[in-house]
Order: sequence, then C-alpha cells, then structure tokens
Amino acid sequence: MLWPENVEIGSCSGYHRFQFHTWCLPLISITFWIFAHTSFFMTTFVNLSPLPLHLRLNRNRSSSSFHLHRSSTSPPFLLRKFTLPKRTVSSVLQTNNGVSSTSDSCSTEPNSFNNDVRIVAVVGDGAISPLKSASWIDVMSHTAERLKWIDDKYEMLVFTDNIHDLNPNAQNLQKVLTTANILLIVSVTKDESVEWIKRYSQNIPNVICFDSSPALENKLGGSFVSVGNKGSLFSKLNKKTKETLELAETISEAWIRHNSDDIRFCLLIIINAYIKPVPVLKNLRAQGFSTLNCMVKNCGRQVMNCLLDPNCRKALQCLNQCSPVDQVCNYKCIASYESPILEEFSLCVLQKHNCLDLDAKIPEKPNVTPMVNFRDQILSHDMAEDLFVGWLGNLDWSWRVVAGQNPAYDQFPCQYQLFYRGKARGSFWYEPVFQVKTLDGKLVWRRRKYRVKRGKVAGTFNFSVLDNGVVSNEYWTIVDVCEDFSWGLFHYSGAARVAGQSYTGAVLVSRNGEYPTNIDKNRLYLALDRCCIKEWELFDVDNCSCEDAPLGLPEGSRLHTILKPDESMIASDA
Ligand SMILES: *[C@@H]1O[C@H](CO)[C@@H](O)[C@H](O)[C@H]1NC(C)=O
Ligand SMILES: *[C@@H]1O[C@H](CO)[C@@H](O)[C@H](O)[C@H]1NC(C)=O
Ligand SMILES: *[C@@H]1O[C@H](CO)[C@@H](O)[C@H](O)[C@H]1NC(C)=O
Repeated sequence: MLWPENVEIGSCSGYHRFQFHTWCLPLISITFWIFAHTSFFMTTFVNLSPLPLHLRLNRNRSSSSFHLHRSSTSPPFLLRKFTLPKRTVSSVLQTNNGVSSTSDSCSTEPNSFNNDVRIVAVVGDGAISPLKSASWIDVMSHTAERLKWIDDKYEMLVFTDNIHDLNPNAQNLQKVLTTANILLIVSVTKDESVEWIKRYSQNIPNVICFDSSPALENKLGGSFVSVGNKGSLFSKLNKKTKETLELAETISEAWIRHNSDDIRFCLLIIINAYIKPVPVLKNLRAQGFSTLNCMVKNCGRQVMNCLLDPNCRKALQCLNQCSPVDQVCNYKCIASYESPILEEFSLCVLQKHNCLDLDAKIPEKPNVTPMVNFRDQILSHDMAEDLFVGWLGNLDWSWRVVAGQNPAYDQFPCQYQLFYRGKARGSFWYEPVFQVKTLDGKLVWRRRKYRVKRGKVAGTFNFSVLDNGVVSNEYWTIVDVCEDFSWGLFHYSGAARVAGQSYTGAVLVSRNGEYPTNIDKNRLYLALDRCCIKEWELFDVDNCSCEDAPLGLPEGSRLHTILKPDESMIASDA
C-alpha cells in the first residue's frame, strides 16, 4: 500500500513559532505508517482520502490578478503607514542593469556562479507581487538573501525580463543561464521575453513558472511537468513521474500562500530533490522501520489511545486533508482538536523518545543584535527585562502585537504578551495569549507559558516552552523599544528540536495593538533592517474583537525594577 503523500512530501513548511503546528508532519507520517502496516487500521480508516492533486503551476494572468485582488481586500495597513520610500533598491535594480545587487548588510552579491546551487530568477519588469504589493524584484532579491541564511553557498541571481539582445543585462543573463540549475520565472508575459527565455534556458534541468505565459513550461529533474489533463493520466504514471508531480504540487501549494518563508521553501525543496540534500528539510525524508519500532516499544499505550479516541483521530484525519505545507490548515486541525491525548502522544513519541530521530537547531542567521542604550543609559539585564514587562501594571498586559513576520503565527487574532518576574528569585516568564479560529468557526483563546533566561548580552534571552508535548527553544532579542514605550520590535529564532522544525520571526508590539501614532518611521525601518526583515513581510494582527482575553498573573509575580513606562508621555489613544 502506497501513501506517497505522507512518505515523500511532508512538513508543515518549516518555519513556525509554535510547534503545535510543526509536529504535525511527524504525526501524520507515523500514523500513516501504522495505517499502512496494520489491517486493523486499514479497515477502520479506509475513508481517508489522499490529497487532491491540482497543480497550480504556471497560472495565467487572470488567476494571478485574482490573488492580487484577494490581498487588496484585506487592506495592508502597514503599507499605508510605511509610505516613506526610504529604500530605493528596486529602482536601482531596474535602472541599473536589472541584476540583483542589494546593499544591505544582510546580503552578499555574487555576479557569477561558484557553487553547486545556482538559481536564476527572472521577474516581469515592474511586476507587483501579492506580498503587500512589493515588487517581485524586491521579493526575489530578498529571497536570495534569505536563501543564504540557510546556506551561504546557495547562489541566486535576480533579473527583470527587460531583455533584448542589445542590453548588456541580457548578455549577463544569457551567461548565467548557461550554468544555472534552477530557473524561476515570475510574472513574465511579454512575448519577446518568453521567446528569449525559451531560447536560452533549454539546458536548465529545473524550471518553474508562476503567473507567467502558458508558453513557458515547467521542468523538474530534467522532465517537463505538464499542466492540464494529467488527472486522468495520473494512475498510469510511473513512480518517478508521480514523485515529480507531487513535488510540483507541493511547490505550487506553498507558492500560493505568498509569504517569504513559503517562497524560499519552494526553492529549498527543488534543491533538496534534484541538487543536494537540504539539512533543514531533513524531516521530509521518510523514516524507516526504526520509527515504528521505537513507537511500539516505548509508546504503545499513547499511540493506541490516540487512535481509539474520536477527537485525536479526527485531528489526524483533519491533518490528512490539509496540504502538508499549508500551515493555516494544519494549525486549525490541531487547534480544533487539541487534547491531552494528542499531547501525550507527541510527548512520548517525539519529546521523550525522539522516535523520528530529528535534531533541528536554532537558526544562527540572521544575526540580530540587541539595542544598546535606553533613555541614555547602557542597557542592563534588569532594564531589558523591564522593557519586556512593558505596560503590565498600568494595563493588564505587557504588549500587544501589531504585526509580525511569522506567517504561521502572526495571522492569529488578538495577541497579548505577558512578561513578568516570578516568585522565585531571578525567574522570569513569558505568556502569550492569543485567539485561534477553529475549524467550525469558533474563536478560542490559547495561552502558553515560556521560561525566560537571560542571554549572554543584555537584551537577549533564551526562552523555552513545552507546548502540546514538544519542547521549543527560542532565542529572543530586543531590537528596539521606543523611550515612551509606544512601540517595540522583538526578534526571535527558535527550534522544536525533536519535531525537526526551526524558524525565525519578529513582532512589532505596541501599547494597545494599534499601529503606534507618531512613530519615527526611520527608526522602525532601521530596526527592521537589523532583523533583515522587509516591511512587506509583516502580517497585520487582527485585533478587532479581543474582549475577555484570559489574562491575569500568577500570585506573587513581580513587575518592573528600574524602568517603567510613563503614562503621561503617551497621547491618550487607549
Ligand atoms: C486562465 O484562467 C482562467 C481561470 O482560472 C480560465 O477561465 C481561463 O480559461 C485561463 N486562460 C488561459 C489562457 O488558460
Ligand atoms: C541561549 O541561546 C543561544 C543561541 O541559541 C545559545 O548559543 C546559548 O547557548 C543559549 N544559552 C543557554 C544558557 O541555554
Ligand atoms: C486593531 O484594533 C483597532 C481598535 O482597537 C482597530 O481600529 C483596528 O482596525 C484593528 N486593526 C486590525 C489590523 O485589526
């Protein structure tokens, strides 16, 4: 019995903050391993349907405008606020020679290829992405930087399709196309560009096209992946072709989520499948018999309990119906059916026995430095903790999240942060309180509790949390907090080691969750730059109906020691 969608594809796409949506991959894989190997479960769960196959590569113009339209229906309010055209990277790129050459400290800039991962991206000249209407050239140039965080030997060059044979840029593009092994084409529709690209890309084994002319074909591992009528042919395809199609499906599913993590993920899975293994995708590889053996030997009771419990089973069925890389879908399943039985299952299988034998590490890049001074004093550890404690005491919370960079987490409404000193000497805690919309449309509150330890440098911290049975460790940095406590920017990178997941993110916080009035935008831009985050990567947190949040502190908690926000410094905007 083949369950290719669980054995060969997988992951909930990688880079999240909370592992309750990160451990679903192992959970699904394990469970289907069991399904596939025991007749009891086969007969019980025959109704589980495999993932529908709908390839969305090479979408045409009208479907791309659908996505643009969709993103504009939820007004990107940060975009409205961030109108300062501080960065001119994109215009330089386009008028210069069309070659990516960003000047941030976050990037390096090759002009030719020296390594074995050689990606060329060609984007429509002036084409606008659905990521808060940032231009595709900006999005792809930033993707090139973000690839380097994974491995600085991954090379990606970005060009616009402003190509004709007299343009020096075209000669440069032609040159790099001779050695590229991945070509990514986005929003290229002009006939002459299409012809030009077809002429010079024949030898590239991997070509993927999005929002581009149907005349451009997708290729993976050297074979064309055609769209259309393959549904009926699917059953006749050989195993390798099936794998290719599934990979293509995973890519297109990830792509249409339109965030920088998923765009990078698309490239990583091609690299992983056709060029060389990508260690951060280790959890995509099938686990062998040792996994099952480990589970049966150590966690028989927990596995049985989960499979015999209607809710735990529903969670698995629900997860099976999500695309493995659709974080929102996967997360909703877990949130809707979250239970002690599910928690015991993952606590035993993953956390205690690491049956999948995974070992994700906290990403070291980008290297984000903490703020150094606050109100003309050198930041100390005590002061840094006070900054986290923020408005707590004046208000029932420390901070509320305005927007954040992590797609898996920051789409959830109403994020309150509680930071406080514990009863025990030197102890410090972080409790996020947030809403989740469940499958049946209900809004439920969730609350987690992190232990916080001081990092080496003031303004850095090590967080850890046991969440749904799996431990996550995170490294947090206070990037900036305004003197009047009107806003702050916190960066984090973390890993759920035994779930094989690592992730980075950042949150822009304010006193009441609204975009801070009178913000010094340059200062915010500088802070974002230090996180290597573009404003178009931020997701606005919906804070429209946040009444009755389960706030409140444990008895004996203590708040500020040195610094406090001064109510009178803030214009009344509560
Ligand atoms: C483009 O997509 C739309 C909607 O998906 C479809 O109706 C139309 O026929 C497509 N056009 C082409 C040229 O494929
Ligand atoms: C805190 O996290 C950093 C970054 O991951 C790590 O290097 C350091 O060892 C951690 N410190 C402690 C005490 O765990
Ligand atoms: C946040 O809440 C305020 C009211 O407190 C509301 O005006 C604003 O639209 C909300 N923003 C979002 C993104 O939901």
